[in-house]
Amino acid sequence: MTSPPLRVLIVEDSEDDALFIVRALVRGGYDPRHRRVETAEAMKRALAAEPWDVVLADYSMPRFSGPEALEIVSGRGLDVPFIIVSGAIGEETAVAAMKAGAHDYVMKSALGRLVPAIRRELQEAQMRRSRRQAEAALVEAHRRLQALSGRMIQIQENERRALARELHDEIGQTLTAVKISLQSLLMRPEMRSVTQIEDSLRIVDGALEQVRGLSLDLRPSQLDDLGLRPALRWYLERQSRTGGFDLQFTVDDLPVRLQPDVETACFRITQEAVTNILRHADAKRVHVRLQCLAGEMELVVEDDGRGFDVAAAQRRAGEGASLGLVGMEERAALAGGRIEWSSTPGQGTRLKARFPLAPAGDGPAAPSAPVDP
Ligand SMILES: Nc1ncnc2c1ncn2[C@@H]1O[C@H](COP(=O)(O)OP(=O)(O)OP(=O)(O)O)[C@@H](O)[C@H]1O
Ligand SMILES: [Mg+2]
Repeated sequence: MTSPPLRVLIVEDSEDDALFIVRALVRGGYDPRHRRVETAEAMKRALAAEPWDVVLADYSMPRFSGPEALEIVSGRGLDVPFIIVSGAIGEETAVAAMKAGAHDYVMKSALGRLVPAIRRELQEAQMRRSRRQAEAALVEAHRRLQALSGRMIQIQENERRALARELHDEIGQTLTAVKISLQSLLMRPEMRSVTQIEDSLRIVDGALEQVRGLSLDLRPSQLDDLGLRPALRWYLERQSRTGGFDLQFTVDDLPVRLQPDVETACFRITQEAVTNILRHADAKRVHVRLQCLAGEMELVVEDDGRGFDVAAAQRRAGEGASLGLVGMEERAALAGGRIEWSSTPGQGTRLKARFPLAPAGDGPAAPSAPVDP
């Protein structure tokens, strides 16, 4: 079996001691290639010139020391096993060196310990490297997932906006045209089946109402044209009428327009929160509050319903059981904000979301452009 190569940087003032060390490595089964340095400058040059598998440093030398050598290695952010190999080193000094980041220390009189120590440290360094790689891969995967979900939400909003316009402008206008032509039929003196036309008019009115509702549910045009406050007011009043709860909607000290992504996030989060209240809470009162606090915008949605175990619901949502809570968190994060729930079973639920506001001087946010068909 061929001996594994080992690149060893030896920080040592004695040529003889360095040769002893190299011999111990050969005896221990390595094929070492070494360089000996005895000053800080020479060590820095050696570290810059090539990679090393291990650094073996004497503790005290006339012009340099083990602790100084250690500082140079850690100052460069290198994760190379660093072992003190010294003739005379007290227990306390050794402990201090380990605390400063040395991986091990070996007495020159017991060089037989050197190879096992190197083997162990190389293994541990390899494990640290693998862990760092795995962590970096995880961070990268998370970043990609965030970018992807941001893109999906953007696509979904654009599609909803386009569909809402299509429904409102195309189908709504076609139905209006049918209605006008039915009305003019109704005016003709020779018309006999008046009731049939009146029935048709009622059906068309119903369809128009449905189209308007669908279009507003998809994306209320107020959100793009007028901003968050009117869009939320319209939405909440409609929900409180049909859902049968008392609504309080308060807005304190809010700029007329916020960044479009914050407006969309707040609207969608409120929509999901109110849907949850209607589905799960059995609440009598709902309070929605928007306010500015220390450069941030705060959205609070509070109900006096039956409440729930937030941690358990989040665990279930994390397992894919539901999408609402996760979607709200995602929306908040993508607009640079954060969200939290507090809820006590039997006493209602409070959702609080916070978003950074753009620094003053950004002016009113323009509505985002519709997608190309
Ligand atoms: N305001 C609330 N009052 C009481 N329970 C709530 C409230 N909001 C959420 N919950 C509880 O939290 C759970 C998770 O909510 P989430 O919105 O994630 O899922 P969902 O509404 O059940 O389904 P969907 O994925 O369609 O939204 C709900 O099933 C419900 O038990
Ligand atoms: Mg839900």
